[in-house]
Amino acid sequence: MTGQTPTKVDMDKIVSLCRRRGFIFPSSEIYGGLSSCWDYGPLGVELKQNIKQAWWRAVVQERDDMVGLDASILMHPQTWAASGHLEGFSDPLVECKSCHLRWRSDEVKDNSCPSCGGELTEPRLFNLMFKTFMGPIEEEASVVYLRPETAQGMFVNFQNVVNTTRKKLPLGIAQIGKAFRNEITTGNFIFRSREFEQMEIEFFVKPGTDKEWFNYWLEERLNWYVKLGIKRENLQLRPHTKDELAHYARECIDIDYLFPMGWSELEGIANRGDFDLVQHASHSGKELNYFDEETKEHFVPYIIEPSAGVDRSALAFLCDAYDEESDNDEIRVLLHLHPTLAPIKVAVLPLSRREKLVALAKQIYADLRQRWMVQYDDAQSIGRRYRRQDEIGTPFCITIDFQSLEDEQATIRERDTMNQIRIPISELKTALAAKLGGEELFVLPPGGKIWKVEREGGEL
Ligand code: GAP
Repeated sequence: MTGQTPTKVDMDKIVSLCRRRGFIFPSSEIYGGLSSCWDYGPLGVELKQNIKQAWWRAVVQERDDMVGLDASILMHPQTWAASGHLEGFSDPLVECKSCHLRWRSDEVKDNSCPSCGGELTEPRLFNLMFKTFMGPIEEEASVVYLRPETAQGMFVNFQNVVNTTRKKLPLGIAQIGKAFRNEITTGNFIFRSREFEQMEIEFFVKPGTDKEWFNYWLEERLNWYVKLGIKRENLQLRPHTKDELAHYARECIDIDYLFPMGWSELEGIANRGDFDLVQHASHSGKELNYFDEETKEHFVPYIIEPSAGVDRSALAFLCDAYDEESDNDEIRVLLHLHPTLAPIKVAVLPLSRREKLVALAKQIYADLRQRWMVQYDDAQSIGRRYRRQDEIGTPFCITIDFQSLEDEQATIRERDTMNQIRIPISELKTALAAKLGGEELFVLPPGGKIWKVEREGGEL
């Protein structure tokens, strides 16, 4: 722990920023929206993409013991009988006899409707999986489900992956994809929605080494959030008690984040034992075990599962990055997003719309966008343009002024410190690559030479 006090941001501010700047919109908004479904706008899609890339890089690209997978969303219906979702993935619900709203039975008191006070029905089980039909005839035989988690695609492909990659245990499979749950209690923006995206790892290990790998992944995953900018004091580990453990889990610890509504699950790390492979072997009639060539043993691997949500991660990164600073008479709203996650890495801002300046600025813009997501903005005062970029978390702005036409230098301005320096235009790309890669701000190459550092608005 850092000893810092955890801090919460107001959800309304996050929702308003996301709406205003094009991160996230209600789904089908022109029709009044669709409950608990969200559309990611131009900046949101970049943020989400960056989160997924950072995860994939950390858990697949940079490791020898992990491979990726992209299984289909629709799976054989037997999958859900084997996994326990057909039977166990349901909540007891009560329905109000007057207004017909449904509630989780463990959330209501006195058998009266929390909305209108009406009388409630007896609790009934309600399955959380979305049902649909495969083929042209809507009959029970053609029922398929939208997957409620990506995990099952990895269990049923375990043998395929082992056979085709010739990898030895411990071996992990990683997958990113959409999941669907007909959630009863939704809300809190993108925290709990009916269509969402997961980033899941199924890590197959020899029984007996599972505890060690469980602890390993817990630490890896916690560190991933911290490395990408989440304050450690806003994260905590919460072990599941025996009676809240999922039917498949031997042990589970949630990484909770201090969301605006309080501490809530960001990611769960579970020790699933041999539950999944045993279940799928028995339902499919196929052997799902592993032959250890060294010890000549056959065994069913245990599975450690770190399961994260893309949308919840996006919400946590946005909440943690949100900041307001007083700047003279105004409030400077900014997102301290890690450069890896920032939707736009650089903004190119010509000081005026004069032809020669615009030509140079457009040339720089065209060059930089070969490499990064870059915005060009020449509307309104330079101060307003800086603020617009601060609010969406752009780490660097490049300003082109009249002097640039003579000395072939441009100003780089950094979001968090508002420090500014002038550097040769020919070195912009190298300097930005170093900065975006995480080097100390404004110690620029070549040879770590330090250019003049100015504070926005004047003084050196
Ligand atoms: N395979 C295990 C599994 O799916 P889970 O705790 O139900 O476990 C894992 O889900 C993660 O998926 C959660 O920690 C959360 O980040 C995300 N998640 C689950 N349900 C969600 C929902 N309705 N909306 C958004 N994210 C959700």
